[in-house]
Amino acid sequence: MIDPERVHEGMVRFASLLGSFRLTRWITALKLGTPKHEMLRQVVRGVTFENPIGLSGGFDKNAVLTQIIPSVGFGFMEVGSVTARAYQGNPGQHLWRMPASRALVINYGLKNEGADVISQRLRNELRKQPFAIPISINIAKTNCRETNDVAIGIADYAETFRTFLDIGSFFTINISCPNVTSGQPFHEPENLEKLLIELDKMPTEKPIFIKISPDLTHEQIDAILEVAARHHVDGFVCTNLSKRRDLPSISPKDFVPDVGGISGKVVEALTDAQIAYVYSKSQGKFLIIGVGGIFSAEDAYRKIRLGASLLELITGMIYEGPQLISEIQLGLVRLLEKDGFTHISQAVGVDAKKAVH
Ligand SMILES: Cc1cc2nc3c(=O)[nH]c(=O)nc-3n(C[C@H](O)[C@H](O)[C@H](O)COP(=O)(O)O)c2cc1C
Repeated sequence: MIDPERVHEGMVRFASLLGSFRLTRWITALKLGTPKHEMLRQVVRGVTFENPIGLSGGFDKNAVLTQIIPSVGFGFMEVGSVTARAYQGNPGQHLWRMPASRALVINYGLKNEGADVISQRLRNELRKQPFAIPISINIAKTNCRETNDVAIGIADYAETFRTFLDIGSFFTINISCPNVTSGQPFHEPENLEKLLIELDKMPTEKPIFIKISPDLTHEQIDAILEVAARHHVDGFVCTNLSKRRDLPSISPKDFVPDVGGISGKVVEALTDAQIAYVYSKSQGKFLIIGVGGIFSAEDAYRKIRLGASLLELITGMIYEGPQLISEIQLGLVRLLEKDGFTHISQAVGVDAKKAVH
């Protein structure tokens, strides 16, 4: 009955407080964590992931949860999306629940405190101790009219990237936020080419992932893969929120506002199809982080078999609770063993071919 954005903000404040003390971190880990399992440990492009389940971009927009998220059992996390300038959020309501569809509608429009404040916060944390899990800096373009100009937009991405060069294990370039004034211009190959030329100049060896929309056609994905192959891109985060309102996964019982992107079970089928397509097309060249509608170990395992090496979630945790993260890990070990695999990497992509039509 309570406004979901207020619930989310309250949860983030509470979780941030839990992360501030060693004792509360320890108790959280005792309640929610699970022992590490060798089958789930991967070294991906030089980064060690103790387990494949990450917190997706948008839950910890301002990087206040980096201390507590490892205790919840996550193997990695994204912070942000961070933009060069702070943004107070789109006018009106930002979050709606779609309980019958097990989904959310999101219209923050990249609300965050901006690159300077967030990078300083992370540097302060780093002065106390190194991060316990890999952290990705999820970078988007400031949501304002000026950055609708492609050149200014690219400069905006590059400025944020430079601000975070010394922080985190990898980068996620978010080109697929559905709630911004500019639309999604960097899904266009010629704009993406220009953006990636600029990012190639960044003095970093850290992996770079591009986060794309579930609403892309095969032709659009082909063009994006072709451009990405020429640049410093290690993989894709499949997928962001969907703008579509005609999906059969949307229950008629739910109110769906005209604005906003949809998460959770509504995007799951689109995401799964895209993971299989990108995996099949890229022949192992690109890594895939699969995200969209993971509510159980079975959901997670399906995405791995379709081609995802790593996974992320938000909506599943909001509906099912934070113990889901450990339940998925335990379930994944069981499912891998049942199919005769001794390590997660052996299952990646085994179903991709038969899933692509
Ligand atoms: C409350 C909320 C805020 C989000 N904000 C962002 C964001 O700032 N940047 C981003 O890349 N994705 C954002 N997303 C999209 C998620 O990272 C994820 O791609 C999408 O929700 C699908 O995963 P899920 O079904 O597990 O939630 C947001 C999602 C939610 C639920």
